[in-house]
Amino acid sequence: MRSLKVNLDKKTVSSHEIRMGHNIVDRVILLIAKNHKASRYVMVTDSNVNRLYGAAMLSAMTQAGMNASLMEIPAGESSKNISTVMDITGKLLAAGADRGTLLIALGGGVVGDLTGFIASVYMRSVPYVQIPTTLIAQVDSAIGGKTAVDLPQGKNLLGTFYQPRAVFADLNFLSTLPDKEFNNGLAEVIKYGIIEDDKMFKLLEENMAAVKSKDPAYLLKIIETCCRIKKSIVEIDEREQGLRRILNFGHTLGHALEAASDYALSHGEGVALGMIAAARLSAKMHYLPKDESARIENLIIQAGLPSKIPFSFVPDAVIARLKMDKKKKDGMIHFILVKKIGMPFVSSSVSEQLIHDVLEEMKA
Ligand SMILES: NC(=O)c1ccc[n+]([C@@H]2O[C@H](COP(=O)([O-])OP(=O)(O)OC[C@H]3O[C@@H](n4cnc5c(N)ncnc54)[C@H](O)[C@@H]3O)[C@@H](O)[C@H]2O)c1
Ligand SMILES: [Zn+2]
Repeated sequence: MRSLKVNLDKKTVSSHEIRMGHNIVDRVILLIAKNHKASRYVMVTDSNVNRLYGAAMLSAMTQAGMNASLMEIPAGESSKNISTVMDITGKLLAAGADRGTLLIALGGGVVGDLTGFIASVYMRSVPYVQIPTTLIAQVDSAIGGKTAVDLPQGKNLLGTFYQPRAVFADLNFLSTLPDKEFNNGLAEVIKYGIIEDDKMFKLLEENMAAVKSKDPAYLLKIIETCCRIKKSIVEIDEREQGLRRILNFGHTLGHALEAASDYALSHGEGVALGMIAAARLSAKMHYLPKDESARIENLIIQAGLPSKIPFSFVPDAVIARLKMDKKKKDGMIHFILVKKIGMPFVSSSVSEQLIHDVLEEMKA
């Protein structure tokens, strides 16, 4: 079992460990029972993960002497809302859960974001741990303490910064993850390579087939590298005042495309297209050599992610959405561009005409 420490504010308990490995879940349960003592443990999971792992997890917790129960939400982004918060908190109250309770998020980013949000507000906060079961959650959403639910007006509009007490990533969970969900995670993995680690980018270029076959050695190396990158960025900028924005590489346009497709496009697909657009913009503005932009595009294609926008759209409507993005500042669209692989920067001088041209080029 590998371990990384996330070093945050020393005055609070927000520093914590990320542990990862294959087949570690039994040890994880024992670690939680020993290091995170609570009068009650409530595991929150979704219907898919519950079907696959719920019973085994619950019985392992009970065998470890924990006072444990499990609560299920329907799988999918549509559960990440305030009515699910009402439902789960109502059940917590009915079960008599007080501030001595520890919540455990077992699932992907939906379960993690929602459980973290509930933990941050239930009875003015209870501790929680993350057991991420998707690639996105293991390399991204379970790390950093951003919690959220969606509002009808948009995604993640209600949320908090609230760190988990620990993150435990068992790579075995990925064995049951559908390919499409695995590919979504690969988009974030490629993102980390582009923003921070040209060595990992090269490793992905040379070994994508092994990664796609979920080869254990490569997977562990990649997940550990991604966790290390994300945690180092979060350590410097926990509340996304500056540096943490580079984690949004490919996301500005990605989110706009996801929304423009009415969410027919998955998050990973949106990010893949957004990264290709950002690479092309970087090349057109003479920051990035054209062949480097092509490497980015090729790796995304090798991962099984799209390089052409697969639905019909009006570029101006997508640009209008970009301008509505909650992360925009002073009326400017802020793009994360790259000077080379591993060297991102924030630009507010990308012209609308150039975005328009790139969107036209990327039409299927
Ligand atoms: N907090 C953050 O910093 C952050 C970062 C990135 C993404 N997010 C959020 O994460 C969410 C996306 O996360 P996600 O892609 O994990 O989505 P998800 O939680 O919906 O999981 C994707 C699908 O995989 C299923 N699944 C989960 N684990 C499985 C397993 N081991 N085997 C088989 N099926 C499994 C789920 O039931 C679901 O159907 C979004 O809501 C996004 O906003 C948050
Ligand atoms: Zn993302």
